[in-house]
Amino acid sequence: MTKKVLTIFGTRPEAIKMAPLVKELENSSLESIVCVTAQHRQILDQVLDLFKIKPDFDLNIMKNNQNLWSLTSEVLLKTKEVIEEVKPDIVLVHGDTTTSMAAALSAFYAKVPSGHVEAGLRTFNKYYPFPEEINRVFTDAVSSFHFAPTDKSVDNLIKSQVPKEHIYKTGNTVIDALLYTVENHKEEVEGLNLNPNLKTILLTSHRRENFGEPIREICKAITELTNKNKDIEVVYPVHPNPNVKEPVYELLNNKERIHLINPLEYAQFCTLMKKSHIILTDSGGVQEEAPSLGKPVLVLRDTTERPEAVEYGTVKLTGTKKENIISDVQMLLDNDAEYKKMSESINPYGDGYASKRIVDILINKL
Ligand code: UD1
Ligand code: UDP
Repeated sequence: MTKKVLTIFGTRPEAIKMAPLVKELENSSLESIVCVTAQHRQILDQVLDLFKIKPDFDLNIMKNNQNLWSLTSEVLLKTKEVIEEVKPDIVLVHGDTTTSMAAALSAFYAKVPSGHVEAGLRTFNKYYPFPEEINRVFTDAVSSFHFAPTDKSVDNLIKSQVPKEHIYKTGNTVIDALLYTVENHKEEVEGLNLNPNLKTILLTSHRRENFGEPIREICKAITELTNKNKDIEVVYPVHPNPNVKEPVYELLNNKERIHLINPLEYAQFCTLMKKSHIILTDSGGVQEEAPSLGKPVLVLRDTTERPEAVEYGTVKLTGTKKENIISDVQMLLDNDAEYKKMSESINPYGDGYASKRIVDILINKL
Protein backbone atom coordinates (compact mmCIF):
# COMPACT_ATOMS: atom_id res chain seq x y z
CA MET A 1 0.00 0.00 0.00
CA THR A 2 1.20 3.54 -0.76
CA LYS A 3 2.82 5.04 2.33
CA LYS A 4 1.52 8.42 3.54
CA VAL A 5 3.96 11.16 4.49
CA LEU A 6 2.48 14.08 6.43
CA THR A 7 4.78 17.12 6.36
CA ILE A 8 4.03 19.77 8.99
CA PHE A 9 5.62 23.22 9.06
CA GLY A 10 4.66 26.74 10.04
CA THR A 11 7.30 29.46 9.70
CA ARG A 12 9.24 31.03 6.82
CA PRO A 13 12.52 29.16 7.33
CA GLU A 14 10.78 25.80 7.76
CA ALA A 15 8.81 26.42 4.56
CA ILE A 16 11.92 27.34 2.55
CA LYS A 17 13.76 24.26 3.76
CA MET A 18 10.78 21.87 3.43
CA ALA A 19 9.70 23.11 -0.02
CA PRO A 20 12.26 21.09 -2.02
CA LEU A 21 11.42 18.02 0.06
CA VAL A 22 7.68 18.45 -0.57
CA LYS A 23 8.41 18.75 -4.31
CA GLU A 24 10.57 15.60 -4.20
CA LEU A 25 7.83 13.73 -2.29
CA GLU A 26 5.22 14.83 -4.85
CA ASN A 27 7.33 13.22 -7.59
CA SER A 28 7.89 9.98 -5.69
CA SER A 29 5.96 6.78 -5.06
CA LEU A 30 4.95 8.11 -1.63
CA GLU A 31 1.73 10.01 -0.93
CA SER A 32 2.53 13.55 0.17
CA ILE A 33 0.17 15.47 2.47
CA VAL A 34 1.09 18.97 3.64
CA CYS A 35 -0.15 20.69 6.78
CA VAL A 36 0.87 24.26 7.59
CA THR A 37 0.26 25.54 11.09
CA ALA A 38 0.74 29.11 9.79
CA GLN A 39 2.67 30.06 12.93
CA HIS A 40 3.76 32.72 10.42
CA ARG A 41 1.17 34.02 7.98
CA GLN A 42 2.36 36.58 5.40
CA ILE A 43 5.99 35.45 5.30
CA LEU A 44 4.92 31.79 5.09
CA ASP A 45 2.52 32.51 2.22
CA GLN A 46 5.35 34.22 0.29
CA VAL A 47 7.21 30.88 0.30
CA LEU A 48 4.14 28.75 -0.52
CA ASP A 49 3.45 31.00 -3.52
CA LEU A 50 7.04 30.89 -4.79
CA PHE A 51 7.27 27.09 -4.61
CA LYS A 52 3.63 26.58 -5.67
CA ILE A 53 2.73 24.50 -2.61
CA LYS A 54 -0.98 24.17 -1.84
CA PRO A 55 -1.35 22.83 1.70
CA ASP A 56 -3.95 20.14 2.34
CA PHE A 57 -4.47 21.58 5.84
CA ASP A 58 -3.96 25.19 6.94
CA LEU A 59 -4.37 25.62 10.70
CA ASN A 60 -4.05 29.42 10.44
CA ILE A 61 -2.94 29.90 14.06
CA MET A 62 -0.86 33.11 13.92
CA LYS A 63 -1.92 35.91 16.27
CA ASN A 64 -0.31 39.30 16.65
CA ASN A 65 2.60 39.16 19.14
CA GLN A 66 1.77 35.56 20.07
CA ASN A 67 3.33 33.84 23.06
CA LEU A 68 5.04 30.47 23.41
CA TRP A 69 2.37 28.91 25.62
CA SER A 70 -0.62 29.58 23.36
CA LEU A 71 1.42 28.76 20.25
CA THR A 72 2.51 25.40 21.66
CA SER A 73 -0.98 24.39 22.77
CA GLU A 74 -2.60 25.47 19.48
CA VAL A 75 -0.10 23.45 17.43
CA LEU A 76 -0.44 20.42 19.68
CA LEU A 77 -4.25 20.39 19.71
CA LYS A 78 -4.81 21.22 16.05
CA THR A 79 -2.20 18.82 14.66
CA LYS A 80 -3.80 16.03 16.76
CA GLU A 81 -6.95 16.35 14.64
CA VAL A 82 -4.96 16.34 11.39
CA ILE A 83 -2.89 13.32 12.40
CA GLU A 84 -6.04 11.44 13.43
CA GLU A 85 -7.73 12.24 10.12
CA VAL A 86 -4.76 11.51 7.82
CA LYS A 87 -3.38 8.47 9.71
CA PRO A 88 0.09 9.00 8.20
CA ASP A 89 2.89 6.42 8.19
CA ILE A 90 5.30 9.20 9.16
CA VAL A 91 5.18 12.87 10.14
CA LEU A 92 8.05 15.07 8.93
CA VAL A 93 9.00 18.22 10.82
CA HIS A 94 11.86 20.66 10.38
CA GLY A 95 14.37 22.36 12.62
CA ASP A 96 13.73 24.08 15.91
CA THR A 97 10.59 26.18 15.96
CA THR A 98 7.60 25.79 18.25
CA THR A 99 5.70 24.26 15.31
CA SER A 100 8.43 21.62 14.85
CA MET A 101 8.60 20.71 18.52
CA ALA A 102 4.83 20.60 19.16
CA ALA A 103 4.04 18.76 15.90
CA ALA A 104 6.68 16.11 16.67
CA LEU A 105 5.20 15.73 20.17
CA SER A 106 1.74 15.42 18.66
CA ALA A 107 2.95 12.60 16.38
CA PHE A 108 4.63 10.90 19.35
CA TYR A 109 1.41 11.03 21.41
CA ALA A 110 -0.43 9.52 18.42
CA LYS A 111 2.27 6.78 18.22
CA VAL A 112 3.14 7.85 14.66
CA PRO A 113 6.90 7.93 13.92
CA SER A 114 8.33 11.32 13.10
CA GLY A 115 11.30 12.30 10.96
CA HIS A 116 13.33 15.32 12.01
CA VAL A 117 14.78 17.21 9.08
CA GLU A 118 17.85 19.29 10.12
CA ALA A 119 18.39 17.13 13.19
CA GLY A 120 21.34 17.36 15.54
CA LEU A 121 22.11 21.09 15.60
CA ARG A 122 23.25 22.12 19.06
CA THR A 123 24.86 24.91 21.05
CA PHE A 124 24.54 22.81 24.25
CA ASN A 125 23.32 25.99 26.00
CA LYS A 126 19.65 25.59 26.82
CA TYR A 127 18.91 29.33 26.84
CA TYR A 128 20.78 30.16 23.64
CA PRO A 129 19.12 30.36 21.21
CA PHE A 130 15.87 30.47 23.19
CA PRO A 131 13.65 28.50 22.86
CA GLU A 132 15.18 26.87 19.75
CA GLU A 133 17.91 24.84 21.48
CA ILE A 134 15.39 22.99 23.63
CA ASN A 135 12.95 22.72 20.72
CA ARG A 136 15.53 20.76 18.73
CA VAL A 137 16.65 18.60 21.67
CA PHE A 138 13.01 17.77 22.29
CA THR A 139 12.23 17.11 18.62
CA ASP A 140 15.25 14.81 18.37
CA ALA A 141 14.16 12.99 21.53
CA VAL A 142 10.72 12.07 20.18
CA SER A 143 11.68 11.44 16.53
CA SER A 144 12.46 8.08 14.95
CA PHE A 145 14.32 9.29 11.83
CA HIS A 146 17.06 11.94 12.16
CA PHE A 147 18.12 13.63 8.94
CA ALA A 148 21.35 15.34 9.97
CA PRO A 149 22.94 17.92 7.66
CA THR A 150 26.65 17.59 8.58
CA ASP A 151 29.20 15.38 10.37
CA LYS A 152 28.96 17.65 13.40
CA SER A 153 25.21 17.26 13.64
CA VAL A 154 25.64 13.47 13.39
CA ASP A 155 28.16 13.63 16.29
CA ASN A 156 25.77 15.77 18.34
CA LEU A 157 23.01 13.20 17.89
CA ILE A 158 25.33 10.38 18.97
CA LYS A 159 26.31 12.46 22.05
CA SER A 160 22.57 12.90 22.72
CA GLN A 161 22.16 9.05 22.87
CA VAL A 162 20.25 8.80 19.57
CA PRO A 163 20.79 5.25 18.22
CA LYS A 164 23.23 5.34 15.27
CA GLU A 165 20.86 3.35 13.06
CA HIS A 166 18.28 6.17 13.29
CA ILE A 167 20.72 8.82 12.01
CA TYR A 168 21.14 9.65 8.32
CA LYS A 169 23.59 12.26 7.06
CA THR A 170 21.80 13.94 4.16
CA GLY A 171 23.07 17.53 3.87
CA ASN A 172 20.76 20.47 4.52
CA THR A 173 17.73 20.98 2.28
CA VAL A 174 18.36 24.75 2.51
CA ILE A 175 21.03 24.32 -0.16
CA ASP A 176 18.50 22.47 -2.39
CA ALA A 177 16.17 25.47 -2.00
CA LEU A 178 18.93 28.03 -2.58
CA LEU A 179 20.42 26.37 -5.68
CA TYR A 180 16.98 25.82 -7.22
CA THR A 181 15.96 29.42 -6.56
CA VAL A 182 19.10 31.16 -7.80
CA GLU A 183 19.03 29.00 -10.93
CA ASN A 184 15.31 29.38 -11.72
CA HIS A 185 14.30 32.76 -10.27
CA LYS A 186 16.37 35.81 -10.92
CA GLU A 187 13.81 38.33 -9.65
CA GLU A 188 15.04 41.86 -8.93
CA VAL A 189 14.12 43.42 -5.60
CA GLU A 190 10.93 45.38 -6.22
CA GLY A 191 10.93 49.06 -5.33
CA LEU A 192 14.52 49.20 -4.11
CA ASN A 193 16.85 51.45 -6.06
CA LEU A 194 20.33 50.52 -4.98
CA ASN A 195 23.15 52.83 -5.97
CA PRO A 196 25.63 50.71 -7.99
CA ASN A 197 28.49 52.93 -6.77
CA LEU A 198 27.87 52.03 -3.14
CA LYS A 199 28.64 48.81 -1.27
CA THR A 200 25.48 47.11 -0.03
CA ILE A 201 25.36 45.80 3.52
CA LEU A 202 22.45 43.42 4.11
CA LEU A 203 21.08 43.16 7.63
CA THR A 204 18.51 40.79 9.16
CA SER A 205 17.69 40.31 12.83
CA HIS A 206 14.81 38.66 14.68
CA ARG A 207 16.13 36.49 17.56
CA ARG A 208 14.30 36.54 20.88
CA GLU A 209 17.67 36.86 22.71
CA ASN A 210 18.23 40.11 20.79
CA PHE A 211 14.93 41.75 21.79
CA GLY A 212 15.45 44.96 23.78
CA GLU A 213 18.96 46.33 24.25
CA PRO A 214 20.84 44.12 21.71
CA ILE A 215 18.57 45.21 18.85
CA ARG A 216 19.06 48.84 19.86
CA GLU A 217 22.86 48.31 19.89
CA ILE A 218 22.70 46.83 16.38
CA CYS A 219 20.71 49.85 15.15
CA LYS A 220 23.14 52.31 16.75
CA ALA A 221 26.11 50.51 15.16
CA ILE A 222 24.41 50.74 11.74
CA THR A 223 23.79 54.48 12.20
CA GLU A 224 27.44 55.15 13.13
CA LEU A 225 28.76 52.99 10.29
CA THR A 226 26.66 54.72 7.63
CA ASN A 227 27.54 58.15 9.02
CA LYS A 228 31.24 57.36 8.84
CA ASN A 229 31.34 55.44 5.53
CA LYS A 230 29.73 57.44 2.73
CA ASP A 231 30.38 54.57 0.29
CA ILE A 232 27.99 52.09 1.93
CA GLU A 233 24.24 51.65 2.07
CA VAL A 234 22.36 49.29 4.34
CA VAL A 235 19.29 47.25 3.38
CA TYR A 236 17.25 45.80 6.22
CA PRO A 237 14.19 43.65 5.40
CA VAL A 238 12.55 44.02 8.80
CA HIS A 239 11.00 40.91 10.40
CA PRO A 240 7.27 41.47 11.15
CA ASN A 241 7.62 40.56 14.84
CA PRO A 242 6.55 43.74 16.70
CA ASN A 243 9.43 43.26 19.16
CA VAL A 244 11.74 43.81 16.20
CA LYS A 245 9.78 46.20 14.02
CA GLU A 246 9.04 48.83 16.66
CA PRO A 247 12.61 49.56 17.87
CA VAL A 248 14.05 49.25 14.36
CA TYR A 249 11.66 51.82 12.86
CA GLU A 250 12.12 54.08 15.90
CA LEU A 251 15.93 54.10 15.52
CA LEU A 252 16.58 53.71 11.79
CA ASN A 253 13.62 55.10 9.86
CA ASN A 254 14.34 57.89 7.35
CA LYS A 255 18.10 57.78 7.78
CA GLU A 256 20.37 58.48 4.85
CA ARG A 257 21.54 55.31 3.02
CA ILE A 258 19.54 53.01 5.32
CA HIS A 259 16.65 51.21 3.60
CA LEU A 260 14.10 49.63 5.90
CA ILE A 261 11.93 47.37 3.75
CA ASN A 262 9.25 44.70 4.22
CA PRO A 263 10.32 41.05 4.38
CA LEU A 264 11.32 39.99 0.90
CA GLU A 265 9.93 37.11 -1.04
CA TYR A 266 12.68 34.41 -1.02
CA ALA A 267 13.82 34.77 -4.65
CA GLN A 268 14.25 38.53 -4.22
CA PHE A 269 16.10 37.98 -0.96
CA CYS A 270 18.50 35.60 -2.77
CA THR A 271 19.12 38.30 -5.40
CA LEU A 272 19.86 40.76 -2.63
CA MET A 273 22.25 38.35 -0.88
CA LYS A 274 24.12 37.91 -4.18
CA LYS A 275 24.42 41.70 -4.62
CA SER A 276 25.57 42.34 -1.07
CA HIS A 277 29.12 43.13 -0.06
CA ILE A 278 28.72 42.05 3.58
CA ILE A 279 25.84 40.32 5.42
CA LEU A 280 25.02 40.99 9.07
CA THR A 281 22.50 38.56 10.52
CA ASP A 282 21.28 36.57 13.51
CA SER A 283 19.36 34.21 11.19
CA GLY A 284 20.11 30.50 11.08
CA GLY A 285 19.21 30.03 7.42
CA VAL A 286 21.18 33.03 6.18
CA GLN A 287 24.30 31.68 7.95
CA GLU A 288 23.95 28.56 5.80
CA GLU A 289 23.10 30.25 2.49
CA ALA A 290 25.58 33.12 2.40
CA PRO A 291 28.76 30.96 2.42
CA SER A 292 27.45 29.16 -0.68
CA LEU A 293 27.16 32.54 -2.38
CA GLY A 294 30.66 33.57 -1.26
CA LYS A 295 29.46 36.38 1.00
CA PRO A 296 31.15 37.24 4.31
CA VAL A 297 28.76 36.95 7.24
CA LEU A 298 29.02 38.65 10.61
CA VAL A 299 26.70 36.84 13.02
CA LEU A 300 24.91 39.07 15.51
CA ARG A 301 24.91 36.40 18.21
CA ASP A 302 27.38 35.12 20.81
CA THR A 303 27.09 31.48 19.86
CA THR A 304 25.93 29.41 16.91
CA GLU A 305 24.66 25.89 16.29
CA ARG A 306 26.16 26.18 12.82
CA PRO A 307 29.91 26.20 13.55
CA GLU A 308 31.05 24.72 10.21
CA ALA A 309 31.36 28.00 8.27
CA VAL A 310 32.87 29.75 11.30
CA GLU A 311 35.62 27.12 11.25
CA TYR A 312 36.17 27.68 7.52
CA GLY A 313 36.51 31.41 8.26
CA THR A 314 33.71 32.78 6.07
CA VAL A 315 31.39 33.45 9.02
CA LYS A 316 32.42 35.35 12.15
CA LEU A 317 30.62 35.52 15.50
CA THR A 318 30.47 39.25 16.11
CA GLY A 319 27.82 39.41 18.85
CA THR A 320 25.59 42.42 19.47
CA LYS A 321 27.86 44.96 21.17
CA LYS A 322 27.91 48.19 19.17
CA GLU A 323 31.73 48.53 19.28
CA ASN A 324 32.28 44.97 18.04
CA ILE A 325 29.83 45.35 15.15
CA ILE A 326 31.47 48.61 14.10
CA SER A 327 35.02 47.26 14.28
CA ASP A 328 34.23 43.98 12.42
CA VAL A 329 32.38 45.78 9.60
CA GLN A 330 35.06 48.47 9.37
CA MET A 331 37.77 45.81 9.17
CA LEU A 332 35.99 44.17 6.21
CA LEU A 333 35.52 47.55 4.52
CA ASP A 334 39.16 48.60 4.98
CA ASN A 335 41.13 45.38 4.69
CA ASP A 336 40.94 43.76 1.25
CA ALA A 337 42.92 40.68 2.27
CA GLU A 338 40.58 39.95 5.19
CA TYR A 339 37.58 40.59 2.95
CA LYS A 340 38.89 38.17 0.34
CA LYS A 341 39.52 35.47 2.95
CA MET A 342 35.94 35.72 4.21
CA SER A 343 34.35 35.76 0.76
CA GLU A 344 35.56 32.39 -0.41
CA SER A 345 32.61 30.32 -1.61
CA ILE A 346 32.15 27.12 0.42
CA ASN A 347 29.40 24.52 0.84
CA PRO A 348 29.68 22.88 4.26
CA TYR A 349 25.91 22.50 4.61
CA GLY A 350 24.90 20.57 1.51
CA ASP A 351 25.21 19.83 -2.19
CA GLY A 352 21.62 20.32 -3.38
CA TYR A 353 20.58 16.64 -3.10
CA ALA A 354 19.45 16.45 0.54
CA SER A 355 15.74 16.15 -0.30
CA LYS A 356 16.37 13.35 -2.76
CA ARG A 357 18.39 11.44 -0.15
CA ILE A 358 15.63 11.86 2.44
CA VAL A 359 12.95 10.58 0.05
CA ASP A 360 15.13 7.60 -0.95
CA ILE A 361 15.58 6.73 2.74
CA LEU A 362 11.83 6.99 3.36
CA ILE A 363 11.05 4.76 0.37
CA ASN A 364 13.52 2.16 1.64
CA LYS A 365 12.60 2.25 5.30
CA LEU A 366 8.83 2.79 5.49
C1 UD1 B 1 9.85 32.21 14.84
C2 UD1 B 1 10.56 31.04 15.53
C3 UD1 B 1 12.08 31.18 15.38
C4 UD1 B 1 12.47 31.36 13.93
C5 UD1 B 1 11.69 32.53 13.32
C6 UD1 B 1 11.98 32.64 11.85
C7 UD1 B 1 9.55 30.06 17.55
C8 UD1 B 1 9.33 30.21 18.99
N1 UD1 B 1 10.25 31.05 16.94
O1 UD1 B 1 10.19 33.40 15.53
O2 UD1 B 1 12.70 30.00 15.88
O3 UD1 B 1 13.86 31.62 13.85
O4 UD1 B 1 10.28 32.29 13.49
O5 UD1 B 1 11.53 33.85 11.33
O6 UD1 B 1 9.12 29.11 16.94
N2 UD1 B 1 4.41 38.00 12.39
C9 UD1 B 1 3.57 38.58 11.44
N3 UD1 B 1 3.51 38.00 10.20
C10 UD1 B 1 4.22 36.89 9.87
C11 UD1 B 1 5.09 36.33 10.83
C12 UD1 B 1 5.15 36.88 12.09
O7 UD1 B 1 2.92 39.57 11.71
O8 UD1 B 1 4.11 36.41 8.74
C13 UD1 B 1 4.46 38.61 13.75
C14 UD1 B 1 3.21 38.28 14.58
O9 UD1 B 1 2.90 39.38 15.38
C15 UD1 B 1 3.71 37.11 15.44
C16 UD1 B 1 5.13 37.55 15.70
O10 UD1 B 1 5.59 38.09 14.45
O11 UD1 B 1 2.95 36.95 16.62
C17 UD1 B 1 6.06 36.49 16.20
O12 UD1 B 1 5.99 35.31 15.43
P1 UD1 B 1 6.59 33.93 16.08
O13 UD1 B 1 6.51 32.85 15.07
O14 UD1 B 1 5.97 33.68 17.39
O15 UD1 B 1 8.08 34.31 16.43
P2 UD1 B 1 9.28 34.70 15.47
O16 UD1 B 1 10.04 35.76 16.15
O17 UD1 B 1 8.79 34.93 14.10
N1 UDP C 1 14.59 35.34 4.03
C1 UDP C 1 13.65 35.75 3.07
N2 UDP C 1 13.27 37.06 3.06
C2 UDP C 1 13.74 37.97 3.94
C3 UDP C 1 14.68 37.54 4.92
C4 UDP C 1 15.07 36.21 4.94
O1 UDP C 1 13.20 34.96 2.25
O2 UDP C 1 13.35 39.14 3.86
C5 UDP C 1 14.98 33.91 4.05
C6 UDP C 1 16.46 33.61 4.16
O3 UDP C 1 17.07 33.53 2.89
C7 UDP C 1 16.46 32.27 4.89
C8 UDP C 1 15.25 32.32 5.77
O4 UDP C 1 14.41 33.37 5.24
O5 UDP C 1 16.30 31.18 3.99
C9 UDP C 1 15.64 32.62 7.17
O6 UDP C 1 14.54 32.94 7.92
P1 UDP C 1 14.66 33.64 9.33
O7 UDP C 1 15.90 34.46 9.38
O8 UDP C 1 13.36 34.31 9.56
O9 UDP C 1 14.73 32.41 10.33
P2 UDP C 1 15.91 31.49 10.90
O10 UDP C 1 16.64 30.89 9.76
O11 UDP C 1 16.77 32.34 11.77
O12 UDP C 1 15.17 30.49 11.73
